[in-house]
Amino acid sequence: MTAIDDLFALALAARGRAYAPYSRFPVGAALRTPGGAAFSGCNVENAAYPLGVCAETSAISAMIAAGERAIAEILVLGPGAQKIAPCGACRQRIAEFAGDKTLVHLAEEAGGVSTFAFGEMLPHAFGPQSLA
Ligand code: THU
Repeated sequence: MTAIDDLFALALAARGRAYAPYSRFPVGAALRTPGGAAFSGCNVENAAYPLGVCAETSAISAMIAAGERAIAEILVLGPGAQKIAPCGACRQRIAEFAGDKTLVHLAEEAGGVSTFAFGEMLPHAFGPQSLA
C-alpha cells in the first residue's frame, strides 16, 4: 500500500457514483487535509449544461462542510487510461485552500499516477493572500 492508495480508493468509489449522463465522463476526486482527514467527490452534471460541478469542487465542498479548511494533497481520477488534470476553474478553487507545495496526483485506472506540486499547476495564483 502506498501513501495515496486510500485517496485512490476513495476517488474510485466516488467516480462510480458520478452523475455524468451528458458527457459520459465520470470523474472522482479525493483530498487529504494536513491533519489526515480525507474527503471525496464526483462530478454532478445538469441538464442546463453550464451548471455541472466538477469532482474536485465536490470534494472541496465535502471538506468545508466537515469543518476543514486546508488541502495537503488531492487526487483526481478520470475514466479509462488517461490521466486528467483539474480544469482552470477547479485550480482556482483548489488555490483557495492549498499552497504551492500541495500535491496534486493525476491518477489513471490501472494505478499509474503523476504527481505535481500545485505551484506548478497554477503559478502566481490569485488567492486569499492577494486580498490581505
Ligand atoms: N470534470 C471533472 O469533474 N474534473 C476535471 O478535472 C475535469 C472535468 C468533469 C466536468 C464534466 O462533468 C466532465 O468531467 C466532462 O468535462
